This record gives sequence, structure tokens and C-alpha cells, in this order.
Amino acid sequence: MDKLNLCIIFGGTSSEHDVSRVSAASVIDNINPEKYNIYTVGITKSGKWLLYEGDTDAMRTGEWESGKCTPAIISPDRTVRGIVAQSGKVIPLDVVFPVLHGKYGEDGTVQGLLALADIPCVGSGVIGSAVCMDKCMAKIVFKNENIPQADWVELRRGDRADVEMIEKKLGYPCFIKPANAGSSVGVSKAVDREGLLRGIEIAFREDEKILIEEGINAREVECSVIGNENPESAEVLGEVLPANEFYDYEAKYKNANSKLLIPAPVSDEMRDEIRALAVRAYKACECRGLARVDFLVDKKDGSVRLNEINTIPGFTSISMYSMLWDKAGVGYSELIDRLIGFALDSER
Ligand SMILES: Nc1ncnc2c1ncn2[C@@H]1O[C@H](COP(=O)(O)OP(=O)(O)O)[C@@H](O)[C@H]1O
Ligand SMILES: [Mg+2]
Repeated sequence: MDKLNLCIIFGGTSSEHDVSRVSAASVIDNINPEKYNIYTVGITKSGKWLLYEGDTDAMRTGEWESGKCTPAIISPDRTVRGIVAQSGKVIPLDVVFPVLHGKYGEDGTVQGLLALADIPCVGSGVIGSAVCMDKCMAKIVFKNENIPQADWVELRRGDRADVEMIEKKLGYPCFIKPANAGSSVGVSKAVDREGLLRGIEIAFREDEKILIEEGINAREVECSVIGNENPESAEVLGEVLPANEFYDYEAKYKNANSKLLIPAPVSDEMRDEIRALAVRAYKACECRGLARVDFLVDKKDGSVRLNEINTIPGFTSISMYSMLWDKAGVGYSELIDRLIGFALDSER
């Protein structure tokens, strides 16, 4: 079989640029080089697109930008179907894996470019990416599907925050989040009115639209889903044990005391319930390829609520998404092959 020309896009302008670099480096280090010619396009924090021809260590540290880089773009022109370097050189592509998290990467924008370009893309397309990126839109879709979730109030910039109504509806503690963010950036927990008002201000620094959710005293259980029309969930779930009061940015990436429990210690019934909800939510949002579906399990009564869907979850070999598949018998490099297979499948 001929090798496929695969482009990995990494970095990006979102607050999760650094996380993306690490995920992408892990993909490149573990992918089967006999199956793919790998081309790497990095997007700097300021949004510059560069064809990068250096090693993955410099991607991890961020030093790649001063390595072998040439300005290059993926052309939206369907007759080109590839990377166009500044020199005019064209690299034809068979498939792209945007290993990008957050805004302008995981939200349907890059997926839209690839749709215009007629290049198959790993993961969800425009609609699934956009719905899952916007926590308010995702909640509306979940509600329409009767998927259990924390109650919420949406606020747009310029709306009057009716604190009394919010307190009455949601109580304390509550969580305040930007609609479009990730890695807990801009997320706060409030236990009183002062915290609520501060949380609203913090969330509006990140986005024009925010949501406030009833706080659940919860265990955080996650489920890996793969596939297109008939998605499957991994039979092993994972649980995160945040080192901080909730799973904030520090607890996610900086605090080694946060732990991942695989498999999550839940009953078989709860596991089945979570897996089924994950697949229903994935289909409802029109996800494709992959997603990690995150749940809040009430510590007191064991009730399960869907928290969010991540269409491009952290994707190193030791990230939750890939470790759950690994436990289920699908190793990391095979997982990458399968995801590329689903991207090519979508095209037919
Ligand atoms: N309604 C809630 N009840 C309890 N904890 C929550 C709730 N919403 C969010 N959290 C906590 O905040 C973290 C980040 O929120 P999340 O919605 O997952 O945003 P992000 O997209 O940034 O990961 C969660 O992992 C969890 O620890
Ligand atoms: Mg989350």
C-alpha cells in the first residue's frame, strides 16, 4: 500500500496551545512511519502558519519556532488539496489530523477550512466541533435528547446578571464558565454572591457568552468514544482525582498530585449507563472520529450527569482518551491508525 500523506497541525492561538504541542509530538513519535509521510504545520500563538521540519523535542518545549520553519498554508482551493509553502511548492495531502485544542482548532473553524479544501480530517466536522465547543449550545442539544446534566443559566455580554434569580435557580456552590474555553481556563467555583459576581467577571474575560451551573459534589468520570455513524465507547472508564478543590488548570497540568484512575471504580450498571449516555450524546451532537465524554457522578446519590464533550481531547500516549483504549486492547499507534481510517471513511 502506498504511504498516505498526513499533515499534523499543532499549536494554535487558543489558551491550550502548549497542550496541543505535547499531544502532537506524542502522535508523531508513536505513529507508524511505514504507513505515513508526515508533514507538520505549526500555528504560532499569534496565528502564523509554519511548515515545520524539525524534531518533536522542540515542539514540546516550544523552541520549534526558531527551528526549520517556512511559512505555509493549507489552501482552501479544492483543486490544490494540500499545503502551499511560501516558495509556491505544493505538498498534496490525503488526510489531516488537527491536534489542536480550543478555539480556532477544536471549534469547527479548521474543520471548515479542510472541508473547503476537500481534505479528509480526523475527528468531528464543522457541526460536531462547533456544537461541542460551545458549552451553551451543547447543553441545548443534550436537553433536547433528555440527557441528564447540571442545571444552568446562560449570560451574554451586556445582559443584566439577575443574581437573585441565579441564586434561586442554582444555589451554591455554582460553577461559572466561559461558553467557549477549555482546560478550565476562566472557570470558577462560587460559594457566595461575591464569588458569583467575581466568577462572572472572570468568565467574561474569556468569552462573550458564559454559563453558570449548579455545582455537583461529584466524582469525575470520563468515557472514550470512537467512530462515525455507529460509534463505540471503550468498555473501561476513567476517573480523575483532581489535586485541587476542582479540576482547574493547575490541577490538570501542573499538579502531579492529580491522579487518573483506570478503570474507574464504578459498578457495572453505572459503567453501562455512562457508556450508553456517551454514545447518545456523541450522536446527538453529530460527532465523528473521536471524543472524550465527561461526566459528573453525584457522590451522594450516584446520579450521573453529562458535563461536556471534548472533540479533540488531550491526545498524548498517556492521556485519558488513549489510555482508556489501551486498557480496552487498542494501543496508541493502532488508535491513531483507526482514527485516520474513520477520517478517510467519512469521505466515501
Ligand atoms: N456543574 C459542576 N459541578 C461540579 N464541578 C464542576 C461543574 N462544572 C465544572 N466543574 C469542575 O470544573 C472543571 C472544568 O469544567 P469543564 O466544564 O470540564 O470545563 P473545561 O472545558 O475547561 O474542561 C471540571 O473538570 C470539574 O472539576
Ligand atoms: Mg472539562
